Order: sequence, then C-alpha cells, then structure tokens
Amino acid sequence: MKTLLTYSFVIFAAFFVHVQTTQVDQCQKINATLPLEVDIVNCIVPSCVFYINSTGVMNLKFIAPRYLENIAPAAVASVQGLNIPYPLGQPDACVGITNTPCPLAEGEYVEYTYSMFVLPMFPEIDAELEFSLQDLDRDKEPFLCFRVALSLRKPK
Ligand SMILES: *[C@@H]1O[C@H](CO)[C@@H](O)[C@H](O)[C@H]1NC(C)=O
Ligand SMILES: *[C@@H]1O[C@H](CO)[C@@H](O)[C@H](O)[C@H]1NC(C)=O
Repeated sequence: MKTLLTYSFVIFAAFFVHVQTTQVDQCQKINATLPLEVDIVNCIVPSCVFYINSTGVMNLKFIAPRYLENIAPAAVASVQGLNIPYPLGQPDACVGITNTPCPLAEGEYVEYTYSMFVLPMFPEIDAELEFSLQDLDRDKEPFLCFRVALSLRKPK
C-alpha cells in the first residue's frame, strides 16, 4: 500500500510539474519556432499579471537550432494595435542561460531564465507580448519566439 501511495504521488508530482508551464502561443509578427517549454512564474493560463515596479520571472527550455554564439532577448508589446519595443536591459542572453556555457552547439538542450523588471513609469495596461531570442551574428534573426497576453497591474 505504501509503495502504491508513493508511486501515485510520484506520478501526481510529475503531472503537476508538467502542467505548471504557461500556455503560450506561436508568435504572429515574428517568424520563429516556439521554445520546448515556457514557464512564466505564477502564471499557467494567461493573461499573465506582471506587477509594476517589480520583477516577473520567465524560464524557457529550448533546443539550439544551430551553433549560436552571440544572442540577445527582444520583446515587442502590442497595445491596442500599437507595437512598442519593450526595453529588456539584457544585451547578452548568455547571462540568462543556466545549464550550459555559451556558445551553444546545434541541438543542445538549453535552459534560459529572464527576470523582467516592469518600470515604475508603466501604466496599468493589457498587452500582447512577443518575446524572442535573436542571433546577433545573423543580423538579429530570431530563432525562437512565443506570444503571451500580459496585464500590467499596480502591486496590491
Ligand atoms: C519562416 O522561417 C522558415 C524557417 O527559417 C522559413 O522557411 C520560412 O520561409 C519563413 N516564413 C516567412 C513567412 O518568412
Ligand atoms: C518602486 O519600488 C521601490 C522598492 O521596491 C520603492 O522604493 C519605490 O518607491 C517604488 N517606486 C514607485 C514609483 O512606486
């Protein structure tokens, strides 16, 4: 019985960990594939709430599509049809890679984390965010992208 319970718990835990990822969509403006997994902390079903003047954390898992040496994150927020480049303040995406050093080999499994600080000047808005990683050695060609609805809110 104890074994069965432990076994059930392991299955449950695995399932639970699996469903903890955020339900994101394919980008519409940027032609690039989805990551294997996107986990925006505390958000399973978007719209994801990000608090103004604080930091939202996102974790991505992806397979490097080719050799990559110089990469950068980029984000465009679309608010009522207007596209606004979102300032990310991380010119080198390699600093966010947690499981392996750069450069990345083709086919390599990569875990990347990005902490997005929402500047205090931002108003409470709803936006569609397209977050991508760009290859700086190929004229900023995006090699990965996801789209998610965000709601910027004042901290409670
Ligand atoms: C999107 O990217 C793929 C692979 O890089 C390419 O084959 C395709 O032509 C691109 N589509 C558009 C609309 O640019
Ligand atoms: C932003 O947060 C910091 C501390 O976390 C606080 O000191 C500051 O007053 C806040 N700024 C605004 C505009 O709310």
